[in-house]
Amino acid sequence: MIIVNYKAYEQAIGDNSEKITQELEEGAEGEEVIVCPQTADLNRIDTDLSVYSQHLDGVDAGSHTGSNQVKAVKDAGAAGTLINHSEKRLDDEDIEAAVDKANEKGLTTVVCAQTPEECAKFSEFEPDYIAFEPPELIGGDTSVSKAEPGLIKEAVEESGKIDTLTGAGIKTREDVEKSIELGCKGVLIASGVVKSENIKNKIQELCHGL
Ligand code: G3P
Repeated sequence: MIIVNYKAYEQAIGDNSEKITQELEEGAEGEEVIVCPQTADLNRIDTDLSVYSQHLDGVDAGSHTGSNQVKAVKDAGAAGTLINHSEKRLDDEDIEAAVDKANEKGLTTVVCAQTPEECAKFSEFEPDYIAFEPPELIGGDTSVSKAEPGLIKEAVEESGKIDTLTGAGIKTREDVEKSIELGCKGVLIASGVVKSENIKNKIQELCHGL
């Protein structure tokens, strides 16, 4: 699987979120490509691809201004959610609460971890996936699969029975192939797709690495 996180990139927010999703759908050619638009754009995305939220707060309905509440996220069309992304970190107890709320509503959970040690800790919350992303490589030119293959292996081992994804600097078919070879189920990617000049060709290339 390939999860494409739109973050808050100009190329993928507001009206552009619909355009990029269309291109990704065309290029995915039936492979499991999942898109993560901004929360405010969840409702406008109309696609055959699965749509996940970029973030979830483990709060009940009530007085929680500014939160991504699980019913709102689900009713807006999300089938799953990232939790604890490096750019939206949560305390351990809030990660666990978010996983629990997502489970109650049947949302697929992807908990992000910065180290193999965090993979081990977060696996105890039993998310559907753990995404290992060394923060220093996020958004950079060197991919995690080239720079830290040993750490990816360790992350997969430490995640135990939880399926592992990896991300940070992933840009090519070779990066995807290497991640899979190291035991990952797929990759989490942002700039390598969103900033690409030809979105459809780029996702096609990456899918060929699965
Ligand atoms: O959520 C994906 C991510 O943090 C990796 O970003 O730009 O390195 O693919 P990027």
